[in-house]
Amino acid sequence: MNAPNIKVSPPGPNARKVLARDGRWIATTTKASPLVVKRAHGSVVEDVDGNTYVDFTCGVSVTNVGHTNPKVVDAIHAQVDAFTHFAGTDFYYDVQTRLAERLADLAPGARPKKVFFANSGTEANEAAIKLARHHSGKPLFLAFLHGFHGRTMGSLALTGSKAVQRARFSPMMPGAVHVPYAYCFRCPYKLTYPSCDLYCANIIEDLYMKTVIPPGDLAATFFEPIQGEGGYVVPPPGWVERIEKITKDNGALLVADEVQSGMGRTGKLFAVEHTKAVPDIITLAKSLGSGIPIGATIFDARLDFGQQGVHSNTFGGNPVACAAGIAVLDILEQERLYANAERLGAHMHRRLEEMKERYEIMGENRGVGLMRATEFVTDGHTKAPAPKLRDKIVLDAFKHGLVLLSAGSSAIRYIPALNIPDALMDTGLDILEASIRRAAKEALGQTLYTAPTSMPEDDFEDWTTKGMEPGDP
Ligand SMILES: Cc1ncc(COP(=O)(O)O)c(C=O)c1O
Repeated sequence: MNAPNIKVSPPGPNARKVLARDGRWIATTTKASPLVVKRAHGSVVEDVDGNTYVDFTCGVSVTNVGHTNPKVVDAIHAQVDAFTHFAGTDFYYDVQTRLAERLADLAPGARPKKVFFANSGTEANEAAIKLARHHSGKPLFLAFLHGFHGRTMGSLALTGSKAVQRARFSPMMPGAVHVPYAYCFRCPYKLTYPSCDLYCANIIEDLYMKTVIPPGDLAATFFEPIQGEGGYVVPPPGWVERIEKITKDNGALLVADEVQSGMGRTGKLFAVEHTKAVPDIITLAKSLGSGIPIGATIFDARLDFGQQGVHSNTFGGNPVACAAGIAVLDILEQERLYANAERLGAHMHRRLEEMKERYEIMGENRGVGLMRATEFVTDGHTKAPAPKLRDKIVLDAFKHGLVLLSAGSSAIRYIPALNIPDALMDTGLDILEASIRRAAKEALGQTLYTAPTSMPEDDFEDWTTKGMEPGDP
């Protein structure tokens, strides 16, 4: 499929029918743009009106090896022909064991590891919460503002990203204490790295552990090596290691949530491998199954529940998902996608930095490998967040054939497949730049945005003002 090819201004007539029925039957979630998918291959997605788009989202970071990667599809087909389910928690099959062995071998640190399989990121984190409490007998968790760990009632207590995600759901699971993450672009302490000496990490021991986190009560610290939903925030060098030291010095476990940052996205299987830290628990989901739901909690074997019945589920370690996971790991290694993520990420960063020279609304480009984002601002000096401008760019790019997702308060995240062809990456970046140019001109008061004739202005307004959090996972 060639992309982009916009035959009818989206959402076209077929898409509108689905949107209307979806609105009637599907629970309100986090819709990001009116894209109605018919098929997706590699880095191209086709909608139900025959439009094709370049995909910079991977379905929220799920198809790192490209949509319907033939090797993944073959592995799925072969497993479907054999059996699709047999409760790997209650019975045994080799494909589950093989995936666990691969993940345990690949996870950082020399200590023996084990794996608990679930069906999603939130469930992988629930297992991490339970492992930490069950093993330590301690009640408290340290987590970070703008962190995202899921939406079920345990992981939601650790999520500190957006108020809308928590509003009206309290009381949360007790025991979570949030502190600011290392968000240097908008340092909550108004300090500058490196002269700050990682104040945002030191304050945990210097203040929090002397007040609201009695160190003996801390079961675990949950962190994302790069914050995902919170805006693709990359902590400065040394921060992760400092957090590890504070955590372990105080007898607690370190849990790296790699649900979004893992699976080669940053140029290594786990983003935490860019640091010297060795987590006690790592959680994965999203790209592990390339679209077949799976979550994995990889943990130091000494933390194991150790007794039948303490924790389990029905679908975890589903054989089709495990077969997909093994295929994904093979592809990442055999097709050198780690190196490709690094190479393409550097190229993307160069191009984004060139754009930033031209458009003041681009406040900061950041990221590692192909986990990249731009934070948009209304003014380069005050760095005031520009969420409306950001949303317009996302929608405008979509209308011109590039699928994007937002993140954080005013960022757009770029999550192309790790094997996106170079030319397609550049095509996507060209569309992005054109949308940024239009938004920048509008921001300067020369309102150039005109909604396409087939999409009435009120629909456009609908997508930008109805209070959704576009791109929210
Ligand atoms: C870092 C992180 N953890 C956990 C989750 C939750 O994963 P899921 O949506 O599969 O429950 C997400 C989802 O975006 C995530 O980005």
